Amino acid sequence: MKILVINGPNINMLGIREPEIYGKNTYKGLCDTINAYANENGVQVEIYQSNHEGEIVDKIQSAYGIFNGIVINPAAYTHTSIAILDALKSVSIPAVEVHISDVSSRESYRQISYVREYCEKTVSGQGINGYIQAIKYLTEAIKD
Ligand code: DQA
Repeated sequence: MKILVINGPNINMLGIREPEIYGKNTYKGLCDTINAYANENGVQVEIYQSNHEGEIVDKIQSAYGIFNGIVINPAAYTHTSIAILDALKSVSIPAVEVHISDVSSRESYRQISYVREYCEKTVSGQGINGYIQAIKYLTEAIKD
């Protein structure tokens, strides 16, 4: 079972960036939490972050034939990127969308999610725990 966790722009700034919205946990803290869960549950996880849309598209394409599931927080690209949606459709790997904050209660420009059309599930407003929920969902869904 191999899961790829992809984070978009500014997620590397967790802990520094708007802590009242995204919390005080750092990006390293996020990676440590995911890796600890993966080790305890026998899941192979790779965590990737990029501030560049094309690099995220490249990473999704490179997952083809290698990963069983994708957890993706496209960050601001959620609301703009048809290219990331198309990349997910291209590889046909089951995916879950994650947002640390509750995007549904935020600005109107955050109400559109292009990747939602493809993703099996969206976890929003659960903080860093949302990534764990997404991994859990995918590992159970893929097993079935
Ligand atoms: C985010 C929400 C997005 O609207 C925002 O642009 C982000 C982070 C979240 O995790 O809550 O960068 O995806």
